Amino acid sequence: MAKTVKDYIRTIVDFPHEGILFRDVTTLFADPRGFRMAIDQLLHPYAGEPIDKVVGLEARGFILGGAIAHQLTLGFVPIRKKGKLPGTTIAQDYQLEYGEAIVEIHDDALKPGEKVLLVDDLLATGGTAEAGIKLIERLGAEVVGCAFIVDLPELGGRKKLEAMGMDVHVLCE
Ligand code: PRP
Ligand code: ADE
Repeated sequence: MAKTVKDYIRTIVDFPHEGILFRDVTTLFADPRGFRMAIDQLLHPYAGEPIDKVVGLEARGFILGGAIAHQLTLGFVPIRKKGKLPGTTIAQDYQLEYGEAIVEIHDDALKPGEKVLLVDDLLATGGTAEAGIKLIERLGAEVVGCAFIVDLPELGGRKKLEAMGMDVHVLCE
């Protein structure tokens, strides 16, 4: 039977902490068929839609977002962990499945009214994506879609984003 995106993802037990089943997409990225399938499926609902920018969440959202932006001939904007972006930024703190963190975006990266596709590899609690959405909206831009390879439904991230009125597109659970 033909392989699906899910077939290329491996699970690492107890990373980065005991009790975490880490869904590792590097094996998907490393496979030419798997990577192309993931990019094609992630952007499919958005091809031909009026989108101005692709925003990727550090770190694996950069790999996916860059490929999607190239394919859709759009610009790419990174949201990074605190202290990594060189220009003037705005910051947002958030809770993770295993800790807490702060993410930032350049304050001139998006213009008011721009339509944004937000991309990351995985949706767990939704804390990271929620922080990203808040940063995008604080710059006056609009999130028209949130695309992820994996959703971990037991952690509630999808429900959290949908309750915020977001269009959520995931390839597997
Ligand atoms: C992972 C993943 C998402 C986030 C999802 O990144 O790539 O960005 O966790 O979790 P959440 O839905 O509970 O917020 P991680 O924080 O491990 O950072 P990294 O990509 O820099 O390794
Ligand atoms: N980010 C948060 N939880 C994760 C998990 N279980 N696997 C991979 N990335 C994650």
